[in-house]
Amino acid sequence: MHSYRARQDVSVLSDHLEVPGLGFLAVNAFVIHAAQPVVVDTGLGLPDRDFLTCLADVIDPADVRWIWLTHPDRDHTGGLFALLDAAPQARVVTTFTGAGIMSAERPLPMNRIYLLNPGQSLDVGDRRLTGFRPPLFDNPATVGVLDTSSGVCLSSDCFGAPLPTATLATAQDAADVSPGELRAAQLLWAAVDSPWVHTVDPAKFAVSFGTLRDFSPTAVLSTHLPPVTGDSTALFATLLDAPSACPFTGPDQAALEAMLHQFQPA
Ligand SMILES: [Fe+2]
Ligand SMILES: [Fe+2]
Repeated sequence: MHSYRARQDVSVLSDHLEVPGLGFLAVNAFVIHAAQPVVVDTGLGLPDRDFLTCLADVIDPADVRWIWLTHPDRDHTGGLFALLDAAPQARVVTTFTGAGIMSAERPLPMNRIYLLNPGQSLDVGDRRLTGFRPPLFDNPATVGVLDTSSGVCLSSDCFGAPLPTATLATAQDAADVSPGELRAAQLLWAAVDSPWVHTVDPAKFAVSFGTLRDFSPTAVLSTHLPPVTGDSTALFATLLDAPSACPFTGPDQAALEAMLHQFQPA
Protein backbone atom coordinates (compact mmCIF):
# COMPACT_ATOMS: atom_id res chain seq x y z
CA MET A 1 0.00 0.00 0.00
CA HIS A 2 1.07 3.56 -0.57
CA SER A 3 -0.58 6.96 -0.33
CA TYR A 4 -0.73 10.14 -2.38
CA ARG A 5 -2.88 13.25 -2.70
CA ALA A 6 -5.42 13.13 -5.52
CA ARG A 7 -6.65 16.59 -4.53
CA GLN A 8 -5.48 19.14 -1.99
CA ASP A 9 -7.92 17.72 0.54
CA VAL A 10 -8.22 14.08 -0.55
CA SER A 11 -5.60 11.39 0.03
CA VAL A 12 -5.69 8.04 -1.73
CA LEU A 13 -4.57 4.93 0.13
CA SER A 14 -3.67 2.86 -2.90
CA ASP A 15 -3.57 -0.92 -3.07
CA HIS A 16 -4.33 -3.52 -5.72
CA LEU A 17 -5.32 -7.12 -6.17
CA GLU A 18 -4.51 -9.47 -9.04
CA VAL A 19 -7.67 -11.13 -10.34
CA PRO A 20 -6.68 -14.20 -12.38
CA GLY A 21 -7.76 -13.89 -15.98
CA LEU A 22 -9.04 -10.34 -15.56
CA GLY A 23 -6.02 -8.25 -14.60
CA PHE A 24 -5.01 -6.00 -11.76
CA LEU A 25 -7.72 -4.25 -9.81
CA ALA A 26 -7.09 -1.07 -7.85
CA VAL A 27 -8.32 -1.24 -4.27
CA ASN A 28 -8.39 2.33 -3.02
CA ALA A 29 -9.48 3.85 0.25
CA PHE A 30 -9.57 7.59 0.80
CA VAL A 31 -9.14 10.29 3.42
CA ILE A 32 -11.13 13.51 3.06
CA HIS A 33 -9.14 16.05 5.08
CA ALA A 34 -12.23 17.88 6.31
CA ALA A 35 -12.49 19.76 9.60
CA GLN A 36 -13.81 16.45 10.90
CA PRO A 37 -11.58 14.00 8.98
CA VAL A 38 -13.36 11.26 7.04
CA VAL A 39 -11.90 7.91 6.01
CA VAL A 40 -13.81 6.38 3.09
CA ASP A 41 -13.49 2.57 3.12
CA THR A 42 -10.71 0.66 4.81
CA GLY A 43 -9.04 -1.57 2.23
CA LEU A 44 -8.29 -5.26 1.97
CA GLY A 45 -8.20 -7.57 4.98
CA LEU A 46 -5.33 -9.75 3.76
CA PRO A 47 -2.89 -10.72 6.52
CA ASP A 48 0.04 -8.89 4.93
CA ARG A 49 -1.83 -5.58 4.68
CA ASP A 50 -1.59 -2.94 7.40
CA PHE A 51 -4.24 -0.33 6.76
CA LEU A 52 -3.53 1.67 9.91
CA THR A 53 0.16 2.09 9.11
CA CYS A 54 -0.66 3.35 5.62
CA LEU A 55 -3.34 5.65 7.05
CA ALA A 56 -0.87 7.03 9.59
CA ASP A 57 1.24 8.36 6.69
CA VAL A 58 -1.49 10.90 5.91
CA ILE A 59 -3.31 11.49 9.22
CA ASP A 60 -3.08 10.52 12.88
CA PRO A 61 -5.69 7.72 13.04
CA ALA A 62 -6.81 9.07 16.44
CA ASP A 63 -8.05 12.23 14.67
CA VAL A 64 -10.45 10.37 12.37
CA ARG A 65 -14.06 11.35 13.10
CA TRP A 66 -15.97 9.44 10.43
CA ILE A 67 -15.48 6.14 8.64
CA TRP A 68 -17.72 6.23 5.58
CA LEU A 69 -18.21 2.61 4.57
CA THR A 70 -19.42 2.76 0.97
CA HIS A 71 -20.51 -0.86 1.42
CA PRO A 72 -19.46 -3.77 3.62
CA ASP A 73 -17.71 -5.95 1.01
CA ARG A 74 -14.47 -7.43 2.26
CA ASP A 75 -12.27 -5.32 0.01
CA HIS A 76 -13.69 -2.27 1.84
CA THR A 77 -13.68 -3.42 5.47
CA GLY A 78 -10.12 -4.73 5.98
CA GLY A 79 -8.96 -2.07 8.45
CA LEU A 80 -12.38 -1.21 9.87
CA PHE A 81 -12.17 -2.63 13.39
CA ALA A 82 -8.50 -1.69 13.89
CA LEU A 83 -9.44 1.87 12.93
CA LEU A 84 -12.44 1.89 15.28
CA ASP A 85 -10.02 0.96 18.08
CA ALA A 86 -7.48 3.59 17.03
CA ALA A 87 -10.04 6.37 16.50
CA PRO A 88 -12.22 6.50 19.63
CA GLN A 89 -14.34 9.41 18.34
CA ALA A 90 -15.02 7.87 14.94
CA ARG A 91 -18.44 6.62 13.87
CA VAL A 92 -19.16 4.36 10.92
CA VAL A 93 -21.40 5.89 8.26
CA THR A 94 -23.44 3.11 6.70
CA THR A 95 -27.05 2.11 6.05
CA PHE A 96 -29.44 -0.04 8.04
CA THR A 97 -28.73 -2.79 5.48
CA GLY A 98 -24.97 -2.27 5.79
CA ALA A 99 -25.09 -2.61 9.55
CA GLY A 100 -27.23 -5.72 9.13
CA ILE A 101 -24.76 -7.32 6.73
CA MET A 102 -21.89 -6.57 9.13
CA SER A 103 -23.86 -8.20 11.96
CA ALA A 104 -23.64 -11.57 10.18
CA GLU A 105 -19.89 -11.71 10.76
CA ARG A 106 -18.80 -9.09 13.28
CA PRO A 107 -21.42 -6.62 14.46
CA LEU A 108 -20.62 -2.93 14.58
CA PRO A 109 -21.14 -1.44 18.05
CA MET A 110 -24.47 0.43 17.88
CA ASN A 111 -23.01 3.54 19.50
CA ARG A 112 -20.38 3.75 16.73
CA ILE A 113 -22.90 3.68 13.85
CA TYR A 114 -24.37 6.63 11.94
CA LEU A 115 -27.12 5.59 9.52
CA LEU A 116 -27.28 7.57 6.29
CA ASN A 117 -29.33 6.87 3.17
CA PRO A 118 -28.72 8.06 -0.40
CA GLY A 119 -29.83 11.68 -0.65
CA GLN A 120 -29.00 12.48 2.97
CA SER A 121 -26.03 14.61 4.01
CA LEU A 122 -23.42 14.56 6.74
CA ASP A 123 -21.98 17.78 8.20
CA VAL A 124 -18.23 17.29 8.73
CA GLY A 125 -17.48 20.78 10.03
CA ASP A 126 -16.32 22.64 6.94
CA ARG A 127 -18.49 20.92 4.32
CA ARG A 128 -21.43 18.66 3.71
CA LEU A 129 -21.00 15.20 2.25
CA THR A 130 -24.07 13.89 0.46
CA GLY A 131 -24.72 10.22 -0.04
CA PHE A 132 -25.79 8.92 -3.44
CA ARG A 133 -26.52 5.57 -5.03
CA PRO A 134 -24.00 4.99 -7.84
CA PRO A 135 -25.48 3.71 -11.13
CA LEU A 136 -23.62 0.40 -10.71
CA PHE A 137 -23.17 -1.41 -7.42
CA ASP A 138 -22.72 -4.95 -6.15
CA ASN A 139 -24.11 -4.58 -2.65
CA PRO A 140 -27.50 -3.22 -1.53
CA ALA A 141 -25.84 -1.11 1.17
CA THR A 142 -23.84 0.93 -1.35
CA VAL A 143 -23.77 4.69 -0.76
CA GLY A 144 -21.18 6.83 -2.56
CA VAL A 145 -20.04 10.29 -1.46
CA LEU A 146 -20.53 13.68 -3.12
CA ASP A 147 -18.28 16.30 -1.51
CA THR A 148 -20.26 19.48 -2.14
CA SER A 149 -17.27 21.63 -1.19
CA SER A 150 -14.67 20.25 -3.61
CA GLY A 151 -16.94 18.70 -6.24
CA VAL A 152 -15.25 15.34 -5.75
CA CYS A 153 -17.31 12.17 -6.16
CA LEU A 154 -16.28 8.95 -4.42
CA SER A 155 -18.12 6.32 -6.40
CA SER A 156 -17.44 3.07 -4.50
CA ASP A 157 -17.14 0.09 -6.94
CA CYS A 158 -18.76 2.01 -9.80
CA PHE A 159 -16.42 3.00 -12.69
CA GLY A 160 -13.89 0.34 -11.65
CA ALA A 161 -11.76 -1.48 -14.19
CA PRO A 162 -9.25 -4.36 -14.03
CA LEU A 163 -6.10 -3.11 -15.73
CA PRO A 164 -3.24 -4.92 -17.51
CA THR A 165 -0.52 -4.20 -14.94
CA ALA A 166 -0.13 -3.48 -11.24
CA THR A 167 1.60 -0.24 -12.20
CA LEU A 168 -1.51 0.97 -14.02
CA ALA A 169 -3.83 -0.19 -11.22
CA THR A 170 -1.89 1.93 -8.74
CA ALA A 171 -1.31 4.90 -11.06
CA GLN A 172 -2.24 8.35 -9.80
CA ASP A 173 -4.34 9.20 -12.85
CA ALA A 174 -6.63 7.02 -14.96
CA ALA A 175 -5.41 9.01 -17.98
CA ASP A 176 -2.37 6.70 -17.94
CA VAL A 177 -4.70 4.08 -19.44
CA SER A 178 -5.57 4.49 -23.12
CA PRO A 179 -9.22 5.51 -23.66
CA GLY A 180 -10.04 2.34 -25.62
CA GLU A 181 -8.45 0.07 -23.05
CA LEU A 182 -10.20 1.89 -20.22
CA ARG A 183 -13.60 1.62 -21.88
CA ALA A 184 -13.24 -2.13 -22.49
CA ALA A 185 -12.02 -2.73 -18.93
CA GLN A 186 -14.87 -0.69 -17.40
CA LEU A 187 -17.48 -2.61 -19.39
CA LEU A 188 -15.86 -5.89 -18.32
CA TRP A 189 -15.94 -4.79 -14.67
CA ALA A 190 -19.55 -3.69 -15.00
CA ALA A 191 -20.43 -7.19 -16.24
CA VAL A 192 -18.41 -8.91 -13.51
CA ASP A 193 -19.43 -6.74 -10.56
CA SER A 194 -22.98 -5.76 -11.50
CA PRO A 195 -24.29 -8.61 -13.72
CA TRP A 196 -27.86 -7.39 -13.16
CA VAL A 197 -27.08 -4.49 -15.50
CA HIS A 198 -27.83 -6.73 -18.51
CA THR A 199 -31.43 -7.10 -17.35
CA VAL A 200 -32.29 -3.41 -16.94
CA ASP A 201 -34.25 -1.08 -19.18
CA PRO A 202 -31.49 1.08 -20.74
CA ALA A 203 -33.69 4.19 -20.59
CA LYS A 204 -34.38 3.75 -16.87
CA PHE A 205 -30.71 2.93 -16.28
CA ALA A 206 -29.74 6.21 -17.98
CA VAL A 207 -32.01 8.09 -15.56
CA SER A 208 -29.99 6.63 -12.66
CA PHE A 209 -27.05 8.80 -13.76
CA GLY A 210 -29.07 11.96 -13.07
CA THR A 211 -27.75 12.75 -9.60
CA LEU A 212 -24.16 12.30 -10.70
CA ARG A 213 -24.61 14.22 -13.93
CA ASP A 214 -26.26 17.11 -12.11
CA PHE A 215 -23.41 17.14 -9.58
CA SER A 216 -20.91 17.40 -12.48
CA PRO A 217 -17.94 16.11 -10.46
CA THR A 218 -14.51 17.74 -10.65
CA ALA A 219 -13.01 14.30 -9.99
CA VAL A 220 -14.33 10.74 -9.81
CA LEU A 221 -12.54 8.61 -7.25
CA SER A 222 -13.51 4.95 -7.58
CA THR A 223 -12.37 2.25 -5.20
CA HIS A 224 -11.34 0.20 -8.22
CA LEU A 225 -9.79 2.69 -10.64
CA PRO A 226 -7.03 5.32 -10.46
CA PRO A 227 -8.45 8.83 -10.00
CA VAL A 228 -10.27 10.45 -12.91
CA THR A 229 -9.94 14.22 -12.96
CA GLY A 230 -11.59 16.73 -15.25
CA ASP A 231 -14.29 15.93 -17.74
CA SER A 232 -16.25 12.79 -16.83
CA THR A 233 -18.39 12.70 -19.99
CA ALA A 234 -16.53 9.69 -21.39
CA LEU A 235 -16.88 7.81 -18.09
CA PHE A 236 -20.64 8.23 -18.09
CA ALA A 237 -20.91 7.40 -21.80
CA THR A 238 -19.04 4.13 -21.27
CA LEU A 239 -21.26 2.92 -18.45
CA LEU A 240 -24.42 3.90 -20.32
CA ASP A 241 -23.46 1.06 -22.69
CA ALA A 242 -23.13 -1.46 -19.87
CA PRO A 243 -26.65 -2.99 -20.32
CA SER A 244 -25.72 -4.19 -23.82
CA ALA A 245 -22.10 -5.14 -23.04
CA CYS A 246 -20.95 -8.74 -23.21
CA PRO A 247 -22.05 -10.68 -20.09
CA PHE A 248 -19.27 -12.24 -18.03
CA THR A 249 -19.05 -15.94 -17.29
CA GLY A 250 -16.17 -17.05 -15.09
CA PRO A 251 -14.07 -20.16 -15.69
CA ASP A 252 -15.80 -23.41 -14.65
CA GLN A 253 -14.19 -26.47 -13.02
CA ALA A 254 -13.08 -27.95 -16.37
CA ALA A 255 -11.36 -24.68 -17.28
CA LEU A 256 -9.73 -24.53 -13.85
CA GLU A 257 -8.42 -28.07 -14.18
CA ALA A 258 -7.10 -27.33 -17.68
CA MET A 259 -5.30 -24.29 -16.26
CA LEU A 260 -3.83 -26.28 -13.38
CA HIS A 261 -2.75 -29.03 -15.78
CA GLN A 262 -0.55 -26.50 -17.59
CA PHE A 263 1.35 -25.94 -14.35
CA GLN A 264 2.10 -29.63 -13.73
CA PRO A 265 5.72 -30.67 -14.24
CA ALA A 266 6.32 -32.61 -17.45
FE1 LIG B 1 -18.29 -4.43 -3.85
FE1 LIG C 1 -15.14 -3.29 -4.10
